[in-house]
Amino acid sequence: MNNQAPVVTVDGPSGVGKGTLCQWLAMRLGWRLLDSGALYRLTALAALRRNLALQDETRVAMVAAELDVQFIPNTEGATQVTLDGVEIGAALRSETTGNAASQVAALPTVRAALLQRQRNFRQAPGLIADGRDMGTVVFPDADLKLFLTASADERADRRYKQLIEKGMDANLAVLIKEIAERDARDAQRTVAPLKPAVDAEILDTTQLDIAEVCAWALALVNQRLRIRVIP
Ligand code: DC
Repeated sequence: MNNQAPVVTVDGPSGVGKGTLCQWLAMRLGWRLLDSGALYRLTALAALRRNLALQDETRVAMVAAELDVQFIPNTEGATQVTLDGVEIGAALRSETTGNAASQVAALPTVRAALLQRQRNFRQAPGLIADGRDMGTVVFPDADLKLFLTASADERADRRYKQLIEKGMDANLAVLIKEIAERDARDAQRTVAPLKPAVDAEILDTTQLDIAEVCAWALALVNQRLRIRVIP
């Protein structure tokens, strides 16, 4: 019998809607949230700020091990993120940072340096873990493993709308190309490649809206963890 705090993992490719689902689930259940992508993004940002080459595995792994970050949730479910004590803001979510994160995430020593930090998020009353390898590597004994997919065109389209809504620059053709590149890098790397755990529940969200995805996830949480949260 596992006496650790319960964990629900949510994995899947870039732009599939994991972030929105995870924030919603964490709010709904009153659980903690691990945004593991943010740790890779922050590692990349910290390495670039120190003028390191992103391929310099030894130095980038040292940056990852010593990362001084804080995740400060607010009451609306959003999180303020600080690096070296200073708030990061929009740079954390930019496509440039996402692409740099995907490069450092391919380095095995960097992944190893972030492993325990991710596991430390598992605390009562429970954890929602968002990423690529949450169910396969970081929490292989998770109580429930979810895996979201959607076509690359649909994900690029969602990302485009998100960026425009935030008043940021966006070009759909560039986003489609970048998503395809990121998919290939995340799925083909030798360590912790993006793939569903054998015991994951998989949902193709291409034709679904976020409310339908949330309802699917909550039904599984209720069923598998035997807790009753009303939709
Ligand atoms: O989820 P995201 O877009 O914030 O992730 C940024 C990059 O970090 C993504 O391209 C791959 C990498 N990543 C990873 O390799 N493993 C994780 N658990 C989370 C993210």
